[in-house]
Amino acid sequence: MSPFSARRPLALLCTTLLALTTAVATAPTAAAATTPERVLLSPTADPATSQTLTWRSDTSANPTLQIAPASAPGQVTTVAGTNTASVGGTFHRATATGLAPDTAYRYRVGDGTDFSPWRTFTTAASDADPFTFLYFGDVQNGISSGAAPVVRAALAAEPDAELAVHAGDLVDSSNSEAQWTEWFEAFGPEATGTMNHVTTPGNHEYSLFSLSRYWTPQFPGAGNGPTSGNHLPQTVYHTDYQGVRFIVLNSNYRAAAPLSSSSWLATQQRWLEQALAGNPHPWTVVTFHHPVFSNSPSRDNAALRRAWLDTLESHDVDLVLQGHDHSYARGNLTANRTSDPAVQTGPVYTVAVTGTKMYGASTANWTENGAEARVQLANTQTFQTVRVDGARLHYTARTADGTVVDSFTIDKTDGKRVTDTL
Ligand SMILES: [Fe+2]
Ligand SMILES: [Fe+2]
Repeated sequence: MSPFSARRPLALLCTTLLALTTAVATAPTAAAATTPERVLLSPTADPATSQTLTWRSDTSANPTLQIAPASAPGQVTTVAGTNTASVGGTFHRATATGLAPDTAYRYRVGDGTDFSPWRTFTTAASDADPFTFLYFGDVQNGISSGAAPVVRAALAAEPDAELAVHAGDLVDSSNSEAQWTEWFEAFGPEATGTMNHVTTPGNHEYSLFSLSRYWTPQFPGAGNGPTSGNHLPQTVYHTDYQGVRFIVLNSNYRAAAPLSSSSWLATQQRWLEQALAGNPHPWTVVTFHHPVFSNSPSRDNAALRRAWLDTLESHDVDLVLQGHDHSYARGNLTANRTSDPAVQTGPVYTVAVTGTKMYGASTANWTENGAEARVQLANTQTFQTVRVDGARLHYTARTADGTVVDSFTIDKTDGKRVTDTL
């Protein structure tokens, strides 16, 4: 029965109003208002020794990060943060430096008076060390009702995952406060506050030619991207995690540089070339939103292929994690086939979707451009887990009920072999 139903007894209505009035009069205003929300770990260039935190509150006073080794919780270091933006509150950022590798730290953020709960994260090991990360395609649609169950299944399946890659279109409306709230709730404060999130913007993080006002305050990047180009310094970066260089590009040439897309993409290509040539690690994962080979028959990102494909191939990037097409695929250049139909060499290109919007799937754009989709699925929401262990990497795509829909292994023990294992 509605609380305003005509059948509701008047006395009960009065009691309810009195209770509400009393609650408002006695509610603690300061504590509730300044408690940090949207606390999230963003990787620095070197997450073995430093860690960036972002959060939002409704005060711009004294943004503060307190951090201590989990083994010595009394040894608290206070790091002064900065206010980065005013969007539905004040966003803050702080970076702890001088941390010890492979070490658990407790931290909380706040204004010096009101703080988030203490949470714990572990810095990356300084060298290659086995770990698992998650990869999500577009969360975007039906976030609470349809995407969150997939996210929760991923977190439950891999409770020890140390990092998550988000390949764009995290929300549908770039500046929707409600949708960003849903996104943070889908992952929950434990997942946003205890593992690093590697994110790239999708076209839905743009409104016409403007990047979401929420993007940089929530996902500041690592600060080692190109120094010029629309939105490139804040959206393009790389971070090194236990033997893997994660590289984030921005594929939104239509929105970010509609009149200069070639030079904007070339700027990223030159930076990518350096990031790949200077990679001291055995593994490379690149993520951006629009796929170089589309699953949708009406879609084609030819400018991306022209700008980046040769670089991805010549440096033999291991994984290229993409989104945008609202279906699933995994494939490679046909030139990288081997005599064994289950084995390829070279980079692996993927497309995935977490949320509820689905488009049809077609291999046309793959085959017309020298590639093949080894696995392609329409109408399938998935989450992906990647286990990196020495010379081997194992990738699995699953639906929320745990059904494995794709699986392969990259083995570099004796030359590089990518083997279907489904
Ligand atoms: Fe998209
Ligand atoms: Fe999308």
